[in-house]
Amino acid sequence: MTTPVLRASALRRRFAHPSGDVEVLRGLELSVHGGELVTVSGRSGSGKSALLALLGGFDSPDSGRVLLAGQPIDGAPPWHTCAVLPQALGLAQELTVAENVALPLRLRPGKDVVEDRVAQLLADLGVGQLADRYPGEVSFGQQQRVALARAVSGRPKVLLTDEPTAHLDAGSTPAVLRLLRRCAGEGVAVIVATHDDALHAIADRRVRLADGVLSAA
Ligand SMILES: Nc1ncnc2c1ncn2[C@@H]1O[C@H](COP(=O)(O)OP(=O)(O)O)[C@@H](O)[C@H]1O
Ligand SMILES: [Mg+2]
Repeated sequence: MTTPVLRASALRRRFAHPSGDVEVLRGLELSVHGGELVTVSGRSGSGKSALLALLGGFDSPDSGRVLLAGQPIDGAPPWHTCAVLPQALGLAQELTVAENVALPLRLRPGKDVVEDRVAQLLADLGVGQLADRYPGEVSFGQQQRVALARAVSGRPKVLLTDEPTAHLDAGSTPAVLRLLRRCAGEGVAVIVATHDDALHAIADRRVRLADGVLSAA
């Protein structure tokens, strides 16, 4: 068995609230291999986004650790190693749609022709006609697909997506499913927090977050 590209062990995370502390993660374990698409379900507030923040290095656990390609993560790794589609999207408002998607490619020039890769990803997701608009000029569902294209464009080893179909209508969802499956097919470890049965249906493995730990779903 190969080494998992992403490995979380004994993760604990507690948040302070005026009404009392909440221990959201309680010794959580997760290993994901390259090429594997794993969906994480769980009721709202169960800690899915908190988990992705730890896996992406945007937050630190109170105890436990996250290994990326065998190395402990220390802050958010480079975007070409681990890329994120956050629940709040986080597009740069002063950049056009195409410039947002090109950002990871410009940060780390590679073999891709930037314009071609950007145009292809936007077209694959049905938002090719929006390339020159600003995020504030397109719908939230369209912004969500732009943010997914940005996450994918730099060919990361790990892709973390938080409810990637939450703002989409049924007609826009299949393109997202195809892209996520294609990423897994290219060897990316894809982790998807979602309530969407359509996403669970394309997963290689489904886990459920409840009471701070994951179990098979
Ligand atoms: N940065 C934070 N500060 C305080 N509480 C937080 C923070 N992030 C998450 N929480 C709390 O952790 C719990 C899980 O939140 P979240 O991970 O967003 O759930 P989910 O994504 O499954 O809906 C909630 O009770 C939320 O209030
Ligand atoms: Mg969430």
